[in-house]
Amino acid sequence: GDNVMYLAHRYDIPIEGACEASLACCTCHVYVHDDYSDRIQEPTEEEEDMLDMAPFLRESSRLSCQIV
Ligand code: FES
Repeated sequence: GDNVMYLAHRYDIPIEGACEASLACCTCHVYVHDDYSDRIQEPTEEEEDMLDMAPFLRESSRLSCQIV
């Protein structure tokens, strides 16, 4: 699947992804740079719910496996 998490893995960027993109963890948490925030889709409600459990949550927080 093409999502930011798998893309990162392909370039050896060490983002975790414990649940393999099934929205059952928040180990793929990333901060999206301002320059890109309006170029990606809004998070779904399911992503928001999981994100709420992520440590160090910020306005720019996303689950990278959900950015496609
Ligand atoms: Fe678990 Fe992204 S890898 S939610």
